[in-house]
Amino acid sequence: MSATAPASRRLTPPDIRARKGGEPVVCLTSYTTPMARISDPHCDVLLVGDSLGMVIHGLPSTLGVTLEMMILHGQAVMRGSQHALVVIDMPFGSYEEGPEQAFRHAARVVMETGAAAVKLEGGAHMAETIRFLVQRGIPVMAHVGLTPQSVNVMGGYKVVGRAEEGAKVMADARAVEEAGAFSVVLEKIPVGLAGRVTEALTIPTIGIGAGSVCDGQVLVVDDMLGLFTDFRPKFVRRYAELGRATEEAVAAYAADVRARRFPGPEHVFPDELPRSAKP
Ligand code: KIV
Repeated sequence: MSATAPASRRLTPPDIRARKGGEPVVCLTSYTTPMARISDPHCDVLLVGDSLGMVIHGLPSTLGVTLEMMILHGQAVMRGSQHALVVIDMPFGSYEEGPEQAFRHAARVVMETGAAAVKLEGGAHMAETIRFLVQRGIPVMAHVGLTPQSVNVMGGYKVVGRAEEGAKVMADARAVEEAGAFSVVLEKIPVGLAGRVTEALTIPTIGIGAGSVCDGQVLVVDDMLGLFTDFRPKFVRRYAELGRATEEAVAAYAADVRARRFPGPEHVFPDELPRSAKP
């Protein structure tokens, strides 16, 4: 869809699945109604990522994010969108025990938000869970390569898949496809490997730090808007410097209040209305 075309109906997981090898899938994270309203006409997928723990709530990692937080932000994004497919992350601890636990919590996400799909992290070891969800009516976007919920096992947010590790990433991607995922996020993997995985799979690969060879791209919206002045990952292109612009605006407001320049005469309500004015 072009950026200005009117939305006729919301995109579905099969629509995204059908984009394999075609027009790149545009995906951005989204956490609030106003940002969803702005992004929706331009995006194919709005991902309510558990990155919201760090981006919105100031947590040190995604590990403290709860199902309730995901549902609350999922509802906000659904209210602000009508075109893009909304995908909601399953937070750490809500799905790893097994297929039944995953279904119970994913069903809550879908029922309480109205979103059509969930995303969960993990490759071959999550295949059984993905198959269980899909067979019972819950479309799954998978996520392999760097999986931030495993940061403590991985020892940091490192590139995953160099040298012999590449075969594991490939096997993980094949396993989630075979289990029925409608697309898969490839996070922070080497570009050559991303190309080989994208060629090998029949479902779209959505890259973040994986190069333009992928079938689509996702970024954390606050990163690409430059809302963080101290966080500049290599794989992010900043399309704005809203952090700096916001700081300048807040500083100007503070200076105006202190100097009694704000509010001005145009911002106040007169005690008496002029005779000509309508009540
Ligand atoms: O939580 C998130 O925002 C994500 C994307 C960065 C892929 O998982």
